[in-house]
Amino acid sequence: MARCFVTRILPGPALDRLRERHEVEVWPDRLPPPYEELAAGAAGVEGLLTTLNDRVDAALLEHCPHLRAISNYAVGVDNIDLDATAARGIPVGNTPDVLTEATADLSFALLLAAARRLPEAIASVREGDWVTWEPSDYLGQSVAGATLGIVGLGRIGRAVARRARGFDMTVLHTGGSGPEPGLALEELLERSDFVSLHCPLTPLTHHLINADALARMRSTAILINTARGPIVDQMALREALMAGQIAGAALDVTDPEPLPADDPLLSAPNLIVTPHIGSATHAAREQMAELAVDNLLAGLDGRPMPHQVGAGA
Ligand code: DGY
Repeated sequence: MARCFVTRILPGPALDRLRERHEVEVWPDRLPPPYEELAAGAAGVEGLLTTLNDRVDAALLEHCPHLRAISNYAVGVDNIDLDATAARGIPVGNTPDVLTEATADLSFALLLAAARRLPEAIASVREGDWVTWEPSDYLGQSVAGATLGIVGLGRIGRAVARRARGFDMTVLHTGGSGPEPGLALEELLERSDFVSLHCPLTPLTHHLINADALARMRSTAILINTARGPIVDQMALREALMAGQIAGAALDVTDPEPLPADDPLLSAPNLIVTPHIGSATHAAREQMAELAVDNLLAGLDGRPMPHQVGAGA
């Protein structure tokens, strides 16, 4: 029996399977453990189940002499220093596939909401401003027949592309290989009516969408980000929205998270921000918990994790 620290209460029954085999401590609060509490919780355990809120870096790992397996409750693992875990020979698991469709659905929901100005229209009804049928109010962008540029043709990017084809959109993409070679980012930005981000956050994609990239986008274009906040330079985005350089943006991820209510970005026009809910369906979040537990159980048994991204993947 190993000792495990789980940094959040997870939906569904998956943690019961972990408790049947191991001694499990679950951080009980609504907010994630602060870094010092995470370090203290991880210090004496062999198994660690983290979320995307938990920064697992080399300094933290130095104080975890017994740690043998880390399972991240997310597909993205940018919160974990994979060089440091590899140097220690600690396998890291993630939770791909089960959240693909949910995240693609939210990407498309944001695309439609921004294109058709849903937040403003909904607010107008609640505020008593629906006084007549208006020929010229709430005019938005056409989705059917428009061009969607997908940055990063991985699992979620492909799932968004499938939805777009149902709307008779032309789909462009970066990344991809073999029969689906991608465009250069610059060309995709210039040709797209909607740009949707689906690449992982790495040193190469940090601020990929900066002032230069935004300047290449059409003045009628809308940016959607359900990947990771730091892929977009938010100050540059704010300026582009204020200047009308692009028509709108819809972000499910920001830098930082949570985005403070007084963050300057929120004063920009034509902006939708949701609180990182891409995978937030009952089914996806419960299946993520099952995968995260499968990964941790395997890692603690010394077996390859079903979804491993760290050493030995
Ligand atoms: C992930 O799994 O990386 C998502 O961002 C969580 O919804």
